[in-house]
Amino acid sequence: MKLLIINGPNLGNIGRREPEIYGHEDFEPFLESLRKEFPEHEIQYFQSHHEGEIVEKIHSAETEKYDGIILNAGAYSHSSYSIRDAVAAIKVPVVMVHISNVYARENFRHENVIAAKCKGVITGFGLKSYELAIRSLSFAG
Ligand code: DQA
Repeated sequence: MKLLIINGPNLGNIGRREPEIYGHEDFEPFLESLRKEFPEHEIQYFQSHHEGEIVEKIHSAETEKYDGIILNAGAYSHSSYSIRDAVAAIKVPVVMVHISNVYARENFRHENVIAAKCKGVITGFGLKSYELAIRSLSFAG
């Protein structure tokens, strides 16, 4: 499958950002280990702090013929109707991931305005959440 991982704002410095919450592992080497673990999949990666860029990337997934998107929209998960509408506008299945267990954190993180338009949500398994999301896309349909 051709897969696209999209990381939203403040997810470019995983490994250094609040490591007690997000862990000590940098995302880039983790991404390499994911690619090795799933040689059968082409895994592309995009990170942006900007809502509009994330919206554009989600739209481009159809023309670029992706089979699935793994989306960690960061704090936009709790607020972005634009990203929600972008997910709703495409046929490519989207699995939302969170590194942390958002339900064990502040109340504002309990609301997710994008999740209802996704195939599913995986939250709280550290960077393993991305691996589980890739596995789930195999049966997401
Ligand atoms: C996050 C959870 C969000 O609440 C937060 O704003 C993030 C990261 C996670 O992966 O746990 O930036 O999406």
